[in-house]
Amino acid sequence: MALSWSHAVLFVQDEPRMLDFYTRVLGFQVTDEGPIAGDRKITFLSQEAAEHHQVAFLAGREEVGPSNSHAHLAFRVEDLSELRVLIARLHEESLTLRPTSHGNTWSVYFQDPEQNGIEIFCDTPWQVKQPAGETWDMSLDDEALLAWTREKFQDAERFGPQEEFIARRERELAAVDGDD
Ligand SMILES: [Fe+2]
Repeated sequence: MALSWSHAVLFVQDEPRMLDFYTRVLGFQVTDEGPIAGDRKITFLSQEAAEHHQVAFLAGREEVGPSNSHAHLAFRVEDLSELRVLIARLHEESLTLRPTSHGNTWSVYFQDPEQNGIEIFCDTPWQVKQPAGETWDMSLDDEALLAWTREKFQDAERFGPQEEFIARRERELAAVDGDD
């Protein structure tokens, strides 16, 4: 048995504004909406066919600001070209972006319209001991960015190909499963 991640439900204050941002800028589709728990509106959003909702908005947030319980929600995109499309859209919204590479990711951090922390990232070919983080230059082309990332992290602890990390984790998870 293993738990797999499905969704997060956020309390929201200005639901139309949040909905606009998550659909128009981040690319979510509304999969359902309706009243819940005493007529509070809940709106479900997803970008994955097999997931009814990855995010949902529950109306009734009183104070807008950074959460005191979660630092950010993170969403993965397929590759650098997809990440660059998102970055361009976020720039059009005049958002402050914080580009950080964790060695295993190229990430950009920003805040949504109600100051929830969001990370969008794609994987690099490598893994490295975490936490690790370096600011990356969003103007570098793919080849230069790969070279920069290898140079920055190659001497870090447990630097190696993504495949090796995944294989090790599969062995560790199988060992736990075998104990059940
Ligand atoms: Fe993260």
